[in-house]
Amino acid sequence: MRRKLVAGNWKMHGGLAANRELLGGLLNQQATVGSAACAVLVPFPYLAQVSSALAGSRISWGAQDVSEHVSGAFTGEVAAPMLADFGCTLVIVGHSERRALHSEDSRTVGKKALSALRSGLTPIICVGESLAEREAGVTREIVGQQIAEAISVCGAGGISASIIAYEPVWAIGTGKTASPEQAQEVHEFLRGILMSASVEAGQVPILYGGSVKAANAAALFAMPDVDGGLVGGASLLVSEFMDIWRAASAARY
Ligand code: 13P
Repeated sequence: MRRKLVAGNWKMHGGLAANRELLGGLLNQQATVGSAACAVLVPFPYLAQVSSALAGSRISWGAQDVSEHVSGAFTGEVAAPMLADFGCTLVIVGHSERRALHSEDSRTVGKKALSALRSGLTPIICVGESLAEREAGVTREIVGQQIAEAISVCGAGGISASIIAYEPVWAIGTGKTASPEQAQEVHEFLRGILMSASVEAGQVPILYGGSVKAANAAALFAMPDVDGGLVGGASLLVSEFMDIWRAASAARY
Protein backbone atom coordinates (compact mmCIF):
# COMPACT_ATOMS: atom_id res chain seq x y z
CA MET A 1 0.00 0.00 0.00
CA ARG A 2 1.37 3.43 -0.97
CA ARG A 3 1.25 6.06 1.75
CA LYS A 4 -1.15 8.86 0.88
CA LEU A 5 0.02 12.45 0.41
CA VAL A 6 -1.98 15.64 0.62
CA ALA A 7 -0.18 18.66 -0.86
CA GLY A 8 -1.51 22.21 -0.67
CA ASN A 9 -0.73 24.39 -3.69
CA TRP A 10 -1.16 27.91 -2.36
CA LYS A 11 -0.76 29.37 -5.88
CA MET A 12 -0.23 33.15 -5.71
CA HIS A 13 -1.93 33.59 -2.37
CA GLY A 14 -0.64 34.47 1.06
CA GLY A 15 1.14 37.06 3.11
CA LEU A 16 3.35 36.85 6.19
CA ALA A 17 0.50 37.29 8.67
CA ALA A 18 -2.01 35.10 6.84
CA ASN A 19 0.60 32.35 6.38
CA ARG A 20 1.50 32.45 10.08
CA GLU A 21 -2.13 31.89 10.96
CA LEU A 22 -2.62 29.09 8.42
CA LEU A 23 0.59 27.27 9.34
CA GLY A 24 -0.15 27.71 13.06
CA GLY A 25 -3.54 26.09 12.55
CA LEU A 26 -2.03 23.10 10.75
CA LEU A 27 0.75 22.69 13.31
CA ASN A 28 -1.72 22.80 16.21
CA GLN A 29 -3.67 19.89 14.78
CA GLN A 30 -0.99 17.80 13.08
CA ALA A 31 -0.77 15.38 16.00
CA THR A 32 -4.44 14.48 15.59
CA VAL A 33 -4.01 13.13 12.04
CA GLY A 34 -3.13 9.58 11.03
CA SER A 35 -0.30 8.43 8.83
CA ALA A 36 -0.81 10.32 5.53
CA ALA A 37 1.93 12.74 4.57
CA CYS A 38 1.29 16.45 4.13
CA ALA A 39 3.04 19.27 2.29
CA VAL A 40 2.55 22.90 1.29
CA LEU A 41 3.81 24.44 -1.97
CA VAL A 42 4.22 28.16 -1.54
CA PRO A 43 5.26 31.29 -3.49
CA PHE A 44 9.05 31.80 -3.57
CA PRO A 45 9.18 34.74 -1.13
CA TYR A 46 7.55 32.63 1.59
CA LEU A 47 9.83 29.60 1.35
CA ALA A 48 12.01 30.95 4.16
CA GLN A 49 8.95 31.49 6.33
CA VAL A 50 7.62 27.96 5.85
CA SER A 51 11.10 26.49 6.24
CA SER A 52 11.39 28.03 9.68
CA ALA A 53 7.75 27.57 10.75
CA LEU A 54 7.60 23.90 9.73
CA ALA A 55 11.06 22.82 10.94
CA GLY A 56 10.71 19.60 12.93
CA SER A 57 7.02 19.21 11.99
CA ARG A 58 5.25 16.50 9.94
CA ILE A 59 4.58 18.96 7.14
CA SER A 60 6.98 19.17 4.17
CA TRP A 61 7.24 22.23 2.00
CA GLY A 62 8.29 23.27 -1.44
CA ALA A 63 8.01 25.65 -4.38
CA GLN A 64 5.59 25.94 -7.30
CA ASP A 65 8.06 26.17 -10.18
CA VAL A 66 11.76 25.86 -10.99
CA SER A 67 13.99 26.79 -13.89
CA GLU A 68 15.18 24.12 -16.28
CA HIS A 69 18.61 25.82 -16.07
CA VAL A 70 21.12 25.54 -13.26
CA SER A 71 22.41 29.13 -13.38
CA GLY A 72 22.99 31.96 -15.82
CA ALA A 73 21.37 34.96 -17.42
CA PHE A 74 17.73 34.03 -16.76
CA THR A 75 16.28 37.09 -15.03
CA GLY A 76 13.41 36.24 -12.73
CA GLU A 77 14.03 32.50 -12.74
CA VAL A 78 14.89 30.37 -9.69
CA ALA A 79 17.24 27.40 -10.08
CA ALA A 80 16.91 24.01 -8.40
CA PRO A 81 20.25 24.27 -6.54
CA MET A 82 18.99 27.53 -5.00
CA LEU A 83 15.91 25.75 -3.67
CA ALA A 84 17.96 22.82 -2.43
CA ASP A 85 20.42 25.22 -0.77
CA PHE A 86 18.17 25.82 2.20
CA GLY A 87 16.37 22.54 2.54
CA CYS A 88 13.51 22.70 0.02
CA THR A 89 12.50 19.15 -0.93
CA LEU A 90 9.52 19.48 -3.28
CA VAL A 91 8.64 21.49 -6.36
CA ILE A 92 5.63 21.52 -8.68
CA VAL A 93 6.48 21.42 -12.40
CA GLY A 94 4.14 21.73 -15.36
CA HIS A 95 1.10 23.01 -13.51
CA SER A 96 -1.61 23.68 -16.11
CA GLU A 97 -1.60 27.37 -15.19
CA ARG A 98 2.07 27.55 -16.19
CA ARG A 99 1.52 25.43 -19.30
CA ALA A 100 -1.32 27.76 -20.37
CA LEU A 101 -0.10 31.17 -19.18
CA HIS A 102 3.64 30.72 -19.73
CA SER A 103 3.55 28.45 -22.79
CA GLU A 104 5.41 25.63 -21.06
CA ASP A 105 5.39 22.54 -23.24
CA SER A 106 5.90 18.98 -22.03
CA ARG A 107 9.58 18.99 -23.10
CA THR A 108 10.26 22.05 -20.91
CA VAL A 109 8.30 20.50 -18.06
CA GLY A 110 10.44 17.37 -18.36
CA LYS A 111 13.62 19.46 -18.26
CA LYS A 112 12.40 21.28 -15.16
CA ALA A 113 11.69 17.94 -13.48
CA LEU A 114 15.16 16.70 -14.42
CA SER A 115 16.77 19.84 -13.07
CA ALA A 116 14.88 19.36 -9.78
CA LEU A 117 15.91 15.70 -9.58
CA ARG A 118 19.57 16.55 -10.17
CA SER A 119 19.47 18.80 -7.10
CA GLY A 120 17.83 16.14 -4.98
CA LEU A 121 14.36 17.69 -5.08
CA THR A 122 11.21 15.68 -5.70
CA PRO A 123 9.28 17.15 -8.64
CA ILE A 124 5.50 16.95 -8.62
CA ILE A 125 4.89 16.60 -12.36
CA CYS A 126 1.42 17.78 -13.38
CA VAL A 127 -0.54 16.44 -16.33
CA GLY A 128 -4.13 16.97 -17.40
CA GLU A 129 -6.50 17.58 -20.29
CA SER A 130 -8.66 20.60 -21.08
CA LEU A 131 -12.45 20.48 -21.29
CA ALA A 132 -12.30 20.58 -25.10
CA GLU A 133 -9.86 17.65 -25.10
CA ARG A 134 -12.06 15.61 -22.75
CA GLU A 135 -15.12 16.33 -24.86
CA ALA A 136 -13.21 15.34 -27.99
CA GLY A 137 -12.41 12.01 -26.31
CA VAL A 138 -8.63 12.51 -26.39
CA THR A 139 -7.88 12.56 -22.63
CA ARG A 140 -5.66 9.48 -22.83
CA GLU A 141 -3.70 10.79 -25.80
CA ILE A 142 -3.08 14.12 -24.06
CA VAL A 143 -2.04 12.86 -20.61
CA GLY A 144 -0.23 9.91 -22.21
CA GLN A 145 1.87 12.27 -24.32
CA GLN A 146 2.56 14.54 -21.33
CA ILE A 147 3.76 11.68 -19.14
CA ALA A 148 5.72 10.04 -21.97
CA GLU A 149 7.67 13.25 -22.51
CA ALA A 150 8.54 13.44 -18.80
CA ILE A 151 9.70 9.81 -18.88
CA SER A 152 11.75 10.42 -22.00
CA VAL A 153 13.56 13.42 -20.46
CA CYS A 154 13.98 12.12 -16.88
CA GLY A 155 14.35 8.39 -17.59
CA ALA A 156 12.59 5.68 -15.61
CA GLY A 157 15.02 6.22 -12.72
CA GLY A 158 14.18 9.91 -12.50
CA ILE A 159 10.46 9.27 -12.70
CA SER A 160 10.64 6.71 -9.91
CA ALA A 161 11.92 9.54 -7.66
CA SER A 162 9.06 11.85 -8.70
CA ILE A 163 5.41 12.39 -7.84
CA ILE A 164 2.75 12.67 -10.57
CA ALA A 165 -0.36 14.83 -10.29
CA TYR A 166 -3.35 14.35 -12.57
CA GLU A 167 -5.17 17.66 -12.72
CA PRO A 168 -7.93 17.88 -15.33
CA VAL A 169 -7.88 21.54 -16.35
CA TRP A 170 -11.69 21.71 -16.41
CA ALA A 171 -11.80 20.78 -12.72
CA ILE A 172 -9.29 23.35 -11.46
CA GLY A 173 -10.85 26.19 -9.50
CA THR A 174 -14.22 25.51 -11.11
CA GLY A 175 -15.90 23.55 -8.35
CA LYS A 176 -16.35 20.73 -10.92
CA THR A 177 -14.50 17.75 -9.53
CA ALA A 178 -13.78 14.69 -11.63
CA SER A 179 -15.88 11.86 -10.23
CA PRO A 180 -13.86 9.27 -8.31
CA GLU A 181 -14.41 6.87 -11.24
CA GLN A 182 -13.20 9.43 -13.81
CA ALA A 183 -10.10 10.12 -11.70
CA GLN A 184 -9.43 6.40 -11.18
CA GLU A 185 -9.72 5.68 -14.89
CA VAL A 186 -7.02 8.21 -15.79
CA HIS A 187 -4.82 7.31 -12.80
CA GLU A 188 -4.94 3.63 -13.79
CA PHE A 189 -4.03 4.55 -17.35
CA LEU A 190 -1.10 6.67 -16.14
CA ARG A 191 0.01 3.89 -13.79
CA GLY A 192 0.12 1.51 -16.75
CA ILE A 193 2.43 3.83 -18.68
CA LEU A 194 4.63 4.33 -15.62
CA MET A 195 4.77 0.56 -15.03
CA SER A 196 5.95 0.00 -18.56
CA ALA A 197 8.84 2.41 -17.88
CA SER A 198 9.86 0.37 -14.81
CA VAL A 199 8.35 -1.45 -11.85
CA GLU A 200 9.63 1.30 -9.53
CA ALA A 201 8.16 4.07 -11.70
CA GLY A 202 4.84 2.24 -11.50
CA GLN A 203 4.87 2.71 -7.74
CA VAL A 204 5.18 6.51 -7.63
CA PRO A 205 2.35 8.42 -5.95
CA ILE A 206 -0.26 9.75 -8.40
CA LEU A 207 -2.16 12.63 -6.82
CA TYR A 208 -5.50 13.96 -8.05
CA GLY A 209 -6.02 17.73 -8.25
CA GLY A 210 -9.04 19.79 -9.24
CA SER A 211 -11.59 21.13 -6.73
CA VAL A 212 -10.63 18.67 -3.98
CA LYS A 213 -12.62 19.58 -0.89
CA ALA A 214 -13.27 18.03 2.51
CA ALA A 215 -16.65 16.90 1.15
CA ASN A 216 -15.28 14.89 -1.81
CA ALA A 217 -11.81 13.87 -0.58
CA ALA A 218 -12.75 10.55 1.02
CA ALA A 219 -14.48 9.24 -2.11
CA LEU A 220 -11.55 10.25 -4.33
CA PHE A 221 -8.94 8.78 -1.98
CA ALA A 222 -10.86 5.49 -1.79
CA MET A 223 -9.87 4.80 -5.42
CA PRO A 224 -6.99 2.30 -5.68
CA ASP A 225 -4.77 4.47 -7.91
CA VAL A 226 -5.52 7.83 -6.28
CA ASP A 227 -2.66 8.30 -3.84
CA GLY A 228 -3.75 11.63 -2.43
CA GLY A 229 -4.50 15.15 -3.57
CA LEU A 230 -2.93 18.32 -4.90
CA VAL A 231 -5.24 20.85 -3.33
CA GLY A 232 -5.62 24.48 -4.41
CA GLY A 233 -8.29 26.70 -2.87
CA ALA A 234 -9.16 24.37 0.00
CA SER A 235 -5.52 24.31 1.16
CA LEU A 236 -5.86 27.93 2.28
CA LEU A 237 -8.50 27.05 4.89
CA VAL A 238 -7.25 25.29 8.01
CA SER A 239 -10.36 23.22 8.71
CA GLU A 240 -10.88 22.18 5.06
CA PHE A 241 -7.26 21.23 4.56
CA MET A 242 -7.07 19.36 7.87
CA ASP A 243 -10.21 17.39 6.97
CA ILE A 244 -8.69 16.50 3.59
CA TRP A 245 -5.50 15.35 5.34
CA ARG A 246 -7.64 13.29 7.74
CA ALA A 247 -9.56 11.76 4.83
CA ALA A 248 -6.25 10.72 3.26
CA SER A 249 -5.14 9.15 6.53
CA ALA A 250 -8.40 7.24 6.88
CA ALA A 251 -8.44 5.94 3.29
CA ARG A 252 -8.40 2.16 2.85
CA TYR A 253 -6.10 2.05 -0.16
P1 13P B 1 -8.33 23.87 -6.88
O1 13P B 1 -8.27 22.84 -5.77
O2 13P B 1 -8.50 25.26 -6.38
O3 13P B 1 -9.32 23.47 -7.94
O4 13P B 1 -6.89 23.86 -7.58
C1 13P B 1 -6.33 22.66 -7.96
C2 13P B 1 -4.92 22.89 -8.36
O5 13P B 1 -4.66 23.49 -9.40
C3 13P B 1 -3.86 22.39 -7.48
O6 13P B 1 -2.62 22.45 -8.08
